[in-house]
Amino acid sequence: MSVAKDAALLVGAPRSNARGKLGRSTVDTGTGELVGQTWPLLAVENLTKHFALKGGLLNRTKAVVQAVDGVSFDVQTGETLGIVGESGCGKSTTARLLMHLIPPDIGSIVFDGLVVGAADGGLSHRDLHRQMQMVFQESYASLNPRLPVAMSIAFGPLVHGLAKSAALKRAMKLLEAVGLDPMLFANRYPHELSGGQRQRINIARALALEPRIVILDEAVSALDKSVEAQVLNLLVDLKAQFDLTYVFISHDLNVVRYISDRVMVMYLGKVAEVGPSEVILKSPGHPYTAALLASMPSLDPDHRTEEAPLSGDPPNPIDPPSGCRFHTRCKFAAPVCSQQAPDLGEGTHQVACHMAHGSSGHPAAIAA
Ligand SMILES: Nc1ncnc2c1ncn2[C@@H]1O[C@H](COP(=O)(O)OP(=O)(O)O)[C@@H](O)[C@H]1O
Ligand code: SF4
Ligand SMILES: [Mg+2]
Repeated sequence: MSVAKDAALLVGAPRSNARGKLGRSTVDTGTGELVGQTWPLLAVENLTKHFALKGGLLNRTKAVVQAVDGVSFDVQTGETLGIVGESGCGKSTTARLLMHLIPPDIGSIVFDGLVVGAADGGLSHRDLHRQMQMVFQESYASLNPRLPVAMSIAFGPLVHGLAKSAALKRAMKLLEAVGLDPMLFANRYPHELSGGQRQRINIARALALEPRIVILDEAVSALDKSVEAQVLNLLVDLKAQFDLTYVFISHDLNVVRYISDRVMVMYLGKVAEVGPSEVILKSPGHPYTAALLASMPSLDPDHRTEEAPLSGDPPNPIDPPSGCRFHTRCKFAAPVCSQQAPDLGEGTHQVACHMAHGSSGHPAAIAA
C-alpha cells in the first residue's frame, strides 16, 4: 500500500505520537526517541473536484465538469515533482486544491504527517499557507500595482506578525536572492518591471514566509524562452539555497523534464503515469506519455521516439469517456479499455494503463 493510501486510513484518527504527527516512526530502543519518520512531505489521496455548471431561470445544475477525479500522489521532502498534461487536464485545479484555495469534494491532504483541515490535531489552513506557497503564471495580476515591490514582498510576513523593519529587511534579502539589486528595485512598481523581473518578485513573495514547499503553476510559461531558462535556473538555485520542495506544473514536458526529479502525467482529471523523470522520458509506460514525448520537439537523439504525436483535442471533461479516459485517442485501445478504468498500480513507476497490468484482460498486457 502506498504511503498516501495509508494516510487516507488515518484521516480523523487520533494523533499517534507525542510530536503530534500521524507519522509512521519507529522508536529507538536506546533513547526512546521516535526516529525514522517515513511520511512524505505531502501525501495526497483521492483528491476530487467536480464543478457544477449552473444555468437557466432556476439556476439548476446543467452539467458537471470532472476537473480532478480521484488523484493520489506523494511529494518527498526536497524533491521536485513535475505535473504535466494538456490544457484542461486539471493541473491548476489540483494546485488550488493543494493550497486549499478551493475545497475538495472528497480526498485528503496530509502535510508532513498532519491532516490538513482536520478538526482534531490536524494542520490549520493558516499554518498550511505559511509552509506551502504558490507562484502563478500571471506575473502582473499577482502583484498589487500600487505597492512598491519591496512592500509586496514584505506584505505576507507583516500580516503574519513580523515587525515592519524586519519584514522589509527580509524583502531586501529576497530581492537579492532572486537576482534583483535591492538598491535598484525595492521602490519600483510592478508596471516598471519586465515580465521576467515581475516573476522574480512573485518568487520572492512566495519565499517571504519561509515556506517548505512551493507550488509553481505555469510559473515560466508566459516568459520568452531565454528569460524562461534564466528563471528556471534561478528556481534550481533557490531550491538548494532555501531547502525547498517544489511541485512544478506545466503543459510543457520539455520544461518539466528539465527541472523535475519525478514526473506525474495527468489526463482528463486523472493521473496517467508517475515515476522518476529519466524513466518516464526513456521508457514511458502509458501511451499518452509516449504521445506527449513524440509531440515534443527534440534535437537530442536519445529523446526521439517512434510514436505518432497526439492529434486532436482531449475529450470534454463534462462527459469523459468511460473506462480509460484516453481510449478515444489510444491506438492500443482494446474492449476492456472502454469498459473498465485502469488502476495506477504500485511502486516507484505507476502506470494507469491496462497493458501495464497482467490480469487486466488487455491482449497486450504484461504477464504478472
Ligand atoms: N471554477 C470552475 N468552474 C467550472 N469549470 C472549471 C473551473 N475551474 C476549472 N474548470 C474546468 O476544469 C477543467 C480543468 O481545468 P484546470 O485545472 O484549469 O486545467 P489545466 O490547469 O490543466 O489547464 C477544465 O475543463 C476547466 O474548464
Ligand atoms: S488502458 Fe487501453 S486505452 Fe487506456 S492507455 Fe492503456 S491501452 Fe490505451
Ligand atoms: Mg492551468
